[in-house]
Amino acid sequence: MSQENWTAVDEYVSGLLAPHDEALEAALRASEDAGLPAIQVSPAQGKLLYLLAKSIGARQVLEFGTLGGYSTIWLARALPDGGRLITLEADLHNAKVARGSIARAGLGDLVDLRVGPALDLLPELEIEGAGRFDLTFIDADKVHTPEYFAWALDHSRPGSLIVSDNVVRDGQLADPNSNDPTIPAQRRLHEMLAADPRVEATTIQTVGVKGHDGFNIALVIG
Ligand code: SAH
Ligand code: DHB
Ligand code: MG
Repeated sequence: MSQENWTAVDEYVSGLLAPHDEALEAALRASEDAGLPAIQVSPAQGKLLYLLAKSIGARQVLEFGTLGGYSTIWLARALPDGGRLITLEADLHNAKVARGSIARAGLGDLVDLRVGPALDLLPELEIEGAGRFDLTFIDADKVHTPEYFAWALDHSRPGSLIVSDNVVRDGQLADPNSNDPTIPAQRRLHEMLAADPRVEATTIQTVGVKGHDGFNIALVIG
């Protein structure tokens, strides 16, 4: 089976189970028109994030890496009235595009988009006493995934979920000598997960419209 087939299956599934409405379509169009890279989660992955948030009754969500707000819209739609999603984005141009799309989706009041490198923004969140987060989605610069994970874990509660995207990268996760600079960080994340008694986790590798990659899901237990 091939990329063509993986894409066809993704399109079949999302056509029935994760169809785009006007706001999601407009968000993708705005991203494309503004020259943002098309690296947002797939529709099926967006739906998974939405289902995870909904299934745990998430009220407070933290996202690392907004891009054009596509995953943000999926996640924010799972929140009840009074819920809140904080999303961190380093690039001001991306953030402006995202703000427009989030507002058009009617989610402007739920979403708090902060601009800057995430590691610089976390101390502010700390001072504000933000969290505890019910769900964290880590999808920014992959070299810092372990640092983002450690912070999220310290700002979670038993029952929280932490989802990390792009941990498999064409299967390179299994290669200790990979020359993809993000892989040592993903391997470090897995070693942290294996050693930390506060979490139980697994990684699922995926094929689909975005090729061969995968995500990690960690459940905070203590
Ligand atoms: N979650 C988005 C895709 C995010 S792509 C979606 O699925 O729709 C990764 C994003 O992380 C990019 O927009 C990039 O600008 C941002 N990013 C890169 N380094 C960052 C950093 N240090 N802090 C915060 N965001 C960062
Ligand atoms: C890239 C980033 C992502 O978040 C993703 O899902 C796929 C690719 C990238 O930076 O190439
Ligand atoms: Mg990603």
